[in-house]
Amino acid sequence: MEIRIIDNTSSVECDLLVVNKFEGEKTTSNIANTYAIDQDNFEGKFGETYLLPTYGQEPHRKVLVVGFGKKEDFNQDKAREIAAKAIKKAMSIEAKSVGFAFNGVEFDYSRQVAIGIMIADYNFDKYKSEKKDKNVNIVYLEANEEEVRKAEKIVTAMNFTRNLANEPAQYATPSELASIACDLGLETKIYDKEECEKMGMGAFLAVGRGSSEAPKFIHMKYSCENPKKKIALIGKGITFDSGGLDIKPASSMLTMKDDMSGAACVLGIMSILREFNPQVEVHGIIAACENMPGCSAYKPGDILTAKNGKTIEVDNTDAEGRLTLADALCYASELGVDEVIDIATLTGACMVALGSLAAGIVGNDDTLVKNLIRTAEQNGERFWELPLWDEYADSLKSDIADMKNTGSRWGGASTAGCFLKKFVKDVKWAHIDIAGVAFLEKPQKELGKGASGAGVRTLLNYILEQ
Ligand code: BES
Ligand code: MN
Ligand code: ZN
Repeated sequence: MEIRIIDNTSSVECDLLVVNKFEGEKTTSNIANTYAIDQDNFEGKFGETYLLPTYGQEPHRKVLVVGFGKKEDFNQDKAREIAAKAIKKAMSIEAKSVGFAFNGVEFDYSRQVAIGIMIADYNFDKYKSEKKDKNVNIVYLEANEEEVRKAEKIVTAMNFTRNLANEPAQYATPSELASIACDLGLETKIYDKEECEKMGMGAFLAVGRGSSEAPKFIHMKYSCENPKKKIALIGKGITFDSGGLDIKPASSMLTMKDDMSGAACVLGIMSILREFNPQVEVHGIIAACENMPGCSAYKPGDILTAKNGKTIEVDNTDAEGRLTLADALCYASELGVDEVIDIATLTGACMVALGSLAAGIVGNDDTLVKNLIRTAEQNGERFWELPLWDEYADSLKSDIADMKNTGSRWGGASTAGCFLKKFVKDVKWAHIDIAGVAFLEKPQKELGKGASGAGVRTLLNYILEQ
C-alpha cells in the first residue's frame, strides 16, 4: 500500500472517499449531508459508518461517512481506530484507491491515522493457496509527511513481528530465529549449545533439552557514535511451549507457537533501527529454544544452576520462560547497559488478571516503569503495573535449592516477576508480560485476529524518544 500526501483529497479521483462526521455537525460532502444526515438521520456516533454511491456526481465513486462521536471525546486512539475501520470497510467493497478527508479535528492526527490505515491492511496469507487480493493499493491523505513516513517504519516493524509470531513452530525454530537475526545487518553473535554451556547457562539449556531443535542464544547489537543511553531488550523465545513433561492440555497448547512473541518483538525492533538511526545503543537478546517432553527432557525435581551460580529446583517444567530469561538477564546485566527490558508471554496469570486489554509490567526502577507505561499510552498500547512485593517470592522457597521455579498459583504474574528479579544485577530493569495481548482470539480495535505485534510500538518509540 502506498500513502500519498496531497492537499485536497475530496477532489481526487478514487474508489472511495472517507469523510468524518462529529455528532451534531455536518460533513464536508454535500451528498453525504443530503442522504446520510438529512434523509437517514445518520448521527455519527463513534464507530458508526454509512456508505453511499455518488453516481458520477463526484470524482470518487463512493463515500463512506464515519462517525467520530462527540468532538470533545475525540482523540488520537479513536482517530487510529476509525481509520482502520474505514480501511476494513474499503477492503470489503474491494475499493483499491481510498481518499481520507477528515475535517474539524483539532490535533495533528497524521501519525495515528497512518498507523491505523496500515495496521488494518495487514493479513497473513502466506499459507493460503488462494490469495484474496482485497488490499487497498493507494491511500490519499491530507497529513504531515514526516509523521506518515515515521508511521510507515513503525508498522513495517510491527508487520515483521506479526509475520514471525504468526508462523507455525515448524518454521520459526530457534535456528530460524538465529538466521533471521543474522540477516538484519547488525553486529550479531549466535551462541550454540556448547558455548552456552561454557557460559554456565544451565537454566536456559535445561529447557531445550527435550527437543530435537538445537537451542540458540542470540545477541544483536545496534551501535552508534556517542550513545546517549544503552538499552538491552530481551525477548522470550520459546518457539513452541508444549509444557514439557508437565505437558499442557490440548486447548492450552493450541496457540503456543506464539510463545516467541517477545523474541519476535525484539527482532522487529532491531530490524528497523538503522532506518531511524537513534542515538542509543540497543542490544537485542533472545534465548531461543523449544519446550518439549523428549527423552532427554528436564524433569520436575531437577536442580539447575543458572549463569549467576544460583540453583533452581524445577517445580514445573511448564514454567520454562522464566528459566530461559534468568540466564538472559544474567547475560544482559554484564553488558554495562543502563537499562534492561524484557518482554515475554510469561504467565497465564497475567492473562487472567488483565485479559487482552493490557500487558502487565513490573520493575526495579519506578521511573523506568512509569516512562514505559506513558510511552505505551501515547502509542496505542496499554501497560498496567503489577506489584512486585518481596512477599510474592516467599512461595518460591525450596527445601534443597536456592529457589523453585514456581510458587503459589495466586498472584502468578508477580511471583514470576520476583523470580526474574533474582537474576538482575546492578541495572535498571523492567519486565513486560504480554501473555494476554500478544495473540488475539478475535479482532480488537485496529488489530485483527492472531499476532498483534505487542510491544513493538511502545519499545520502539521508547528508544526513539531517548
Ligand atoms: N507460555 C506460558 C504462558 C502463557 C499462557 C502465554 C497463556 C500465553 C497464553 C508459560 O510458559 C506457562 O506455561 N506458564 C505457566 C506457569 C505455571 C506453570 C506456573 C502458566 O501460566 O500456567
Ligand atoms: Mn510454559
Ligand atoms: Zn511459555
